[in-house]
This record gives sequence, structure tokens and C-alpha cells, in this order.
Amino acid sequence: MQILHRANETHEWWREAVIYQIYPRSFASSGGPIGDLGGITSRLGYIKQLGADAIWLSPFYRSPQKDAGYDVADYRSVDPMFGDNHAAEAMIEKAHLLDLKVIVDLVPNHTSDQHAWFQAALAGGKDAPERAHYWFRDGKGEGGNEPPNDWLSVFGGPAWTRVKDRADAPGSPWENDDSWYLHLFDSSQPDLNWTDPAVHEEFNSILRYWLDRGADGFRVDVAHGLAKDPELPDWQYHWDMVSGGSEVPENVPAPPQWNRPEVHEIYREWRGVLNDYGQPALVAEAWLGDPKDMKLYVRRDEMSQAFNFDFLISPFEEAAYRKVIAESLAEMDAVGAPTTWVLSNHDVVRAASRFGLSTMGKGPNGIRAWEEQPDAALGARRALAAHALQAALPGSLYIYQGEELSLPEHTSLPDEVRQDPTFFRTNGAEAGRDGCRVPLPWLAEHPSFGFSPDGSSWLPQPHEWTELAMDRQALDPNSSLNFFKKMYQLRKVVGLGSAELLEADGPGLHYVSRAQGRDPLHIVTAFDEPVELPAGARVVLASSEVTQAGGEKAEGYVPANSTVWYVVDRQGL
Ligand code: NOJ
Repeated sequence: MQILHRANETHEWWREAVIYQIYPRSFASSGGPIGDLGGITSRLGYIKQLGADAIWLSPFYRSPQKDAGYDVADYRSVDPMFGDNHAAEAMIEKAHLLDLKVIVDLVPNHTSDQHAWFQAALAGGKDAPERAHYWFRDGKGEGGNEPPNDWLSVFGGPAWTRVKDRADAPGSPWENDDSWYLHLFDSSQPDLNWTDPAVHEEFNSILRYWLDRGADGFRVDVAHGLAKDPELPDWQYHWDMVSGGSEVPENVPAPPQWNRPEVHEIYREWRGVLNDYGQPALVAEAWLGDPKDMKLYVRRDEMSQAFNFDFLISPFEEAAYRKVIAESLAEMDAVGAPTTWVLSNHDVVRAASRFGLSTMGKGPNGIRAWEEQPDAALGARRALAAHALQAALPGSLYIYQGEELSLPEHTSLPDEVRQDPTFFRTNGAEAGRDGCRVPLPWLAEHPSFGFSPDGSSWLPQPHEWTELAMDRQALDPNSSLNFFKKMYQLRKVVGLGSAELLEADGPGLHYVSRAQGRDPLHIVTAFDEPVELPAGARVVLASSEVTQAGGEKAEGYVPANSTVWYVVDRQGL
């Protein structure tokens, strides 16, 4: 037996919360083809009934939408596409009435190139004071024709663009400007320079702006990227989204742009701002690939949570799960932080498809019709099992909209409808993330599956989603949706306490969760082969019994690729 985690006495709301990720453009629309705040507000009851404690919304701020809102032009106003600031306040108010906390997205690594600062930096030429907010540099080589260093954009191609090469340069005041600017993502997302005190002041003020309007926390985009080595030394490796430095060869120098110690000073400063407002959460989106690094972001005077992407990219295999669960709990416990479980988000192939590919792990950047197609039934079955495995582990968890419906990735989107900049910056070599961002199916028999009142949808939805639509699943007691509801209800009833990993003689991952005053809850995940249950085990939850996952009764054993929760004593549940 291995003690994974001992219950602790700290009870901030985010420590054990179930947090539902809303991707605003694809959740629900109150008008046309793009989801909006009105649509979200009208469906908050659904999220509450699912058993969530909080929502996190991807950005809804004013933006040219070159990276689906992760290119912010004005951090204090809602993009007209999503509504207005009154709609945001109404949404937060309704969420609070339902006792749902609201986490909003904060994008501090870069702004949009349409942000007033960047526009002034372009228009004002080399001496513009606004250039200090970004990384403008002269080029190298003859005539400064080469970028200042060899850094790569996460989205593909170089991380620098020369001002005069911008599409808007001809005829503009910057048409002859030969300076370059840094963008670790798209050329429309210039990186901010966090050595500039004005950048600090501005973000402290943005934090207060949304806290004053009721926000209960912030998900911090690219939290490991804000600080750069001011010398900007060469470093030509690709740092992957979500899996971080896992593809970087060993023995190369530490990256000058990722995971630098200076980022922690920024989060300490923010913690100071947040402390004036009670217990707001700060959630790190940091792709590091090592829980030892991750724990530094959630020390007591910094952030509250950090997405456990090592768990997300783990294959559905016993040894991999044993390792990542034990390591991440140990590391987070060492600094008194909760582990933050996550299986999907708007940047990766949906779990229900990822787990159905022949090679599991982070998966490809999108899937196209002529590429390997996931085994849909196997993928959905494993995804449910992984959800049930994580839902009784200590810590908080994030669920991405549609996971409760076991939605798969859209794997046959035509290239003409793609919008993700990664598709364009890799010249189509990567399909990109549109397949996990398809608008949700609410009503099986309606155009656009009831996503919008006028039946339109910004991306086409697969026909197979008819059976997965929310209204169908609501009526089916063995649906994925009802499984999630039951699971989150039970999670509250049994509570999360300490956790012990058991060494079983046979196959399967076994752990016990012990909450104060409750009977122990046993959790068993079977991988490639079924696992026998001990005599007297009373099954309280079985992922295999979900219709989409095979409908196998977990009587006396845990079927392959599934998870069972059971109690031995009847009392307490
Ligand atoms: C991470 C976000 O989740 C992703 O969608 C975005 O493209 C990048 N950060 C850049 O902001």
C-alpha cells in the first residue's frame, strides 16, 4: 500500500471543485452561428445540474479572433460577437445565484496586434514609448534581414515578424520599418515584455477590473512563458503546446523563453492583488512536462492550481497512470496544493477520440478524414473509465464542455472551414484544433442540434452526434450524461479525503479514498483485461454500464477498459 495523499484541513473552494470549461463560441448561441454570453447564461442551469461547482470561460474579450479570442485587443470589454459587458455581468450574477463560481481567462503573454499599445508601437516608429511593452529588435545579418534570434513559434514557423513585412504595411506609416517583433504564437499575437513596469501595472488593473465585476478567479494562459531572457539568446527547439518540452532533446541549455524563474515573481505580485478579494483562484496553464517544475507555480504565495497536463497526455495504461498519479500528488502535496485533473480542453483531440487511436498520449494536432480514424467505441469507453478514475482522486478537476456527452472529435471537417492558425502556419501539415471546438449538440431533432435559434453553426457538426445530443441523453438512464451526473453527486456524498494506492496481486489500478466519517470508497480501473472484484463488494458506479460504452454489467468483476467504484460496507453511502 502506498499513501498517495493525506487529507488536509485547508478548504478554499477551488481545492476540490468540479470546474466546467466553457468554450464560448461553441457552447450555446442566443442568435447566430457563434455561441455567446446570452446562450451561456441560458444554459447555466444545465451545468449546475451536472454537478459542477464552477465554470471557466475561454476568452470573450474584444478580439479580431485570429486565435479564437486568445488574441485580446481590449481586456476590459466583451467582444460584440459574444454580447457586451452588461451580458458578462448578467452571466456572472446568474452563475452566482446558482452557486457556481466563475473563472475568466487572462491572456498575459501576448496581446492582439490590434491592441491600442501595439498599434501605437507600430504607428510611432522606432522611438515610440509603447515599443517598451513588447519585444522589438533590429534584425541580424546584412540589412537586418534575418530575425534577431532563431526562436520558433509554437504554432509553426519563426517567432519573429518584420514590421514592414506585415500584410497591413503597404501604404501605412510602418511600410519601411525594418524592426522585428517577437511572437511565440501567431504574428498577430505580439509578446509582452514583462520587464516593463507598465505591463505589471496594466495587468494588476485588469485583474481588479474583473474581480470588481464578480470574477472568482483567472485561468492564466501560457503561464510558463511570460518571462524571457532579455539577452534573447538563440534556442531553436519546438516547445509543444500541452506536452511542453517533451520533444526537446536532452542536454540542451534551459529555454530562454519558457519556465524561467522570474515568472514566479509575477504570480506573487498577483497573489497580493487577489488577497484583497477573498479566495479567488489563479489557475496555471503551464506546459512543463515535469510535476517538479509544476509545483513551483502553486506554492502558497503564488497560484492556486496548475492543470495536470502530464495526466492528460498519459496513455490509458496501468503503469503510466500509477506513475503520474503518485508523482503529481506527491509533488503538489509537498507545497500544500491540490492536484488539478484534466483530460481534455480546446487545444487537444477530445479524450473520447484520443483514447481510441493506436498510439495514445497527447495525440496529433487534429485528425483529418484520410488519417487514422479513432475506434469510437473503445475511445469513449476508455475516456469514461479515465474520468471515473480521476473523479475520486484528491484534488479538483476540469471537464471540457461535451465530455459529459462523450463527444468525440470531429475528424472529417473540410479544410475550407478550418480557422485554427496552426493549420495555416504549418501550411496544412497539421489539421489544428477546430475538431475539438465544434458547437455542442443540445437537441437531436433540430437544425444545428439546437445550438442556435436560427439553426446555424460556425463549424459543421457530425451527423453521428444525433444520438449524443443532450436531450436524448437526458432521457436515457444509462447515458454518458447521466453517468457524469451520478458520478459528481457521489463524489460529493463520499467526499475526498486521503487516498491509498493498493498493490493488488492481479491486474488493474486499485485505490481507496477515505473521507472523514465515511466508509472507504474503493476505485478499480481495469485496462486490457477484466479485474475480479472481492467478495462483498457493492458496486456504486460502473463506467462500463454507459450505453455508449458497451452496457456491460459490472457484476463480480470490472470489465476491461472501465472503472468501478465500490464499497464493502453498506453504511455511509
Ligand atoms: C493556450 C490556449 O489554450 C490556446 O488556445 C492558445 O492558442 C494559446 N495559449 C495562445 O494564447
